[in-house]
Amino acid sequence: MSDLSPDRQDVGSQDCSRQFPLLVVLHGANLDLLGERPIAHYGSITLAGLESTVRGEAEAAGWACVCCQTNHEGEFIELVHRYRHATALLVNPGAWTHYSYAIRDALELVTGLVAEVHLSDVSSREEWRRRSVITEVVHFTISGHGLHGYVEAVRRLVDLAAATQDEDA
Ligand code: DQA
Repeated sequence: MSDLSPDRQDVGSQDCSRQFPLLVVLHGANLDLLGERPIAHYGSITLAGLESTVRGEAEAAGWACVCCQTNHEGEFIELVHRYRHATALLVNPGAWTHYSYAIRDALELVTGLVAEVHLSDVSSREEWRRRSVITEVVHFTISGHGLHGYVEAVRRLVDLAAATQDEDA
């Protein structure tokens, strides 16, 4: 769970003490109950299992990884603010994806890479799920590939970060 204690610190873009690229994985409402949610859409993986796979993939690439989940929209926004200068954010805001302009505006301030990932294929579900208000402020979206979509997203973020670094060199 996220820790929004008073000693919270932003991840500064000039943070020279950071040795490794940092991936921050942010999950929103109801994703803490993965494993109990409809298997047809989300599979049987738990959030802990998913986070462990993502962390393993990031660490194999030499990245550090922080995972957070919250059921509170304001807290999700605070986490985006806190980690806005991380190397990359991988976000699945759950149902907020479809209507939270506040989360969209927070993501617009992120200086690093942002991936939007959904376990289920939101484009083939109810009408209201087909619209994402965050897509226009992320680098790419992966939807409907289950756990594998997260692995794909980490690999693409690592590749994109390397390409960006090459361009800057
Ligand atoms: C979800 C899709 C959303 O529509 C839904 O509200 C979720 C999970 C997904 O991962 O497929 O909570 O983001």
